[in-house]
Amino acid sequence: MAKTIDVDSLQSFAPETRLVLGGRDPAANHGFVNPAVHHVSTVLYPSVEDFIERRARYLYGRRGTPTSEALENALRDIEGARCRGVALLPSGLAAISTALLAVLNAGDHVLVTDNAYQPTRKVCDGFLKRMGIATTYYDPLVGADIATLMRENTRAVFVEAPGSLTFEVQDVPAIAAAAHQRGAVVLMDNTWATPLYFRGLEKGVDLSIQAGTKYIGGHSDVMLGAVSANETTWKRVQETVHLFGLCVGPDDVYLGLRGLRTLAVRLAQHERAAMKVARWLKQRPEIARVLHPALEDCPGHATWERDFTGASGLFSIVFRPVHENAVRAFLNALQLFGIGASWGGFESLAIPFDCAAVRTATRWNPEGPTVRLHIGLESIDDLIADLERGLVAMAACSA
Ligand SMILES: Cc1ncc(COP(=O)(O)O)c(C=O)c1O
Repeated sequence: MAKTIDVDSLQSFAPETRLVLGGRDPAANHGFVNPAVHHVSTVLYPSVEDFIERRARYLYGRRGTPTSEALENALRDIEGARCRGVALLPSGLAAISTALLAVLNAGDHVLVTDNAYQPTRKVCDGFLKRMGIATTYYDPLVGADIATLMRENTRAVFVEAPGSLTFEVQDVPAIAAAAHQRGAVVLMDNTWATPLYFRGLEKGVDLSIQAGTKYIGGHSDVMLGAVSANETTWKRVQETVHLFGLCVGPDDVYLGLRGLRTLAVRLAQHERAAMKVARWLKQRPEIARVLHPALEDCPGHATWERDFTGASGLFSIVFRPVHENAVRAFLNALQLFGIGASWGGFESLAIPFDCAAVRTATRWNPEGPTVRLHIGLESIDDLIADLERGLVAMAACSA
């Protein structure tokens, strides 16, 4: 018979251990290490009385299964003691919009960081606006001064640290303290750091949002989102998920759970490789700046050092002024860096970006063209050689 894992004692273990143990129940799975992938809808009740009284451990496929519970519990174990519940959603964007809808009502006002993932802005400027909810964007580096932007009807503050293109690190505890003082809740897109490198709920966040598509899945083969909520917000999140009938297919839940088990080793390698590549790029004459929270000159670096326990593999570079065609030559010459959205998988990626036209509260005016890199799990030396190849192509194009 498999040993039972004592859920209550889990929190005494290091995060890496909790990633391995969390949400596991071999005794309920015939001794197998992993849960079954339950493809289900209807639950059969033994009698009509049981049906009327809803006397069953599971009610209906969309209301939770042993597979979805395993991932929810595993995420809850890694979020820490303040986590009251985790809701799984079919994508990171669905997790963001569901979390916003859970805490906002018509007539409310929400403050959103100016460096937020662009589709988050579209939810606010489109759907929330239509529902009578007003959004104000704010400087990501505002810190405690967020208090000056709060209105009578400000019910929520949305943070994303660091921003996933421009990498300013927000002072989440200061923002949370100011928000809570005025009765607003704090939502955070914590996809970059994951709960392993930033314990959002312990830093004052009420709703910590993950695009599980990225590092949790970790293999570019699943769309997944999660909202981890504290005591203040969990009931509203759960109710919203149930009312909208939101759920995730069991195979995707399973891929999320499978990815989560190796998150610590993957992130450690992403971090090590990204730091090495970032430092190499920083000393190249073609590069004006490297936007990486762990580098001393990144806006908010001191906050990153204070609040985060690691850095993942995503950062950006600012080229010295050069023609757009030269940047294209750089990107097209790369063999190991694929060109594509998303990140957090095992593979390296590179995309050009320009958020000047998107921002409304701050100006984004870098010295030259900008490119975002995701550093995957390939050999670091091969990746550096690939970037060098790109820079040679860039020079040939500029000449
Ligand atoms: C920072 C950030 N948050 C959320 C999302 C949305 O995740 P998904 O693609 O799973 O909807 C993304 C996707 O790129 C992202 O980069």
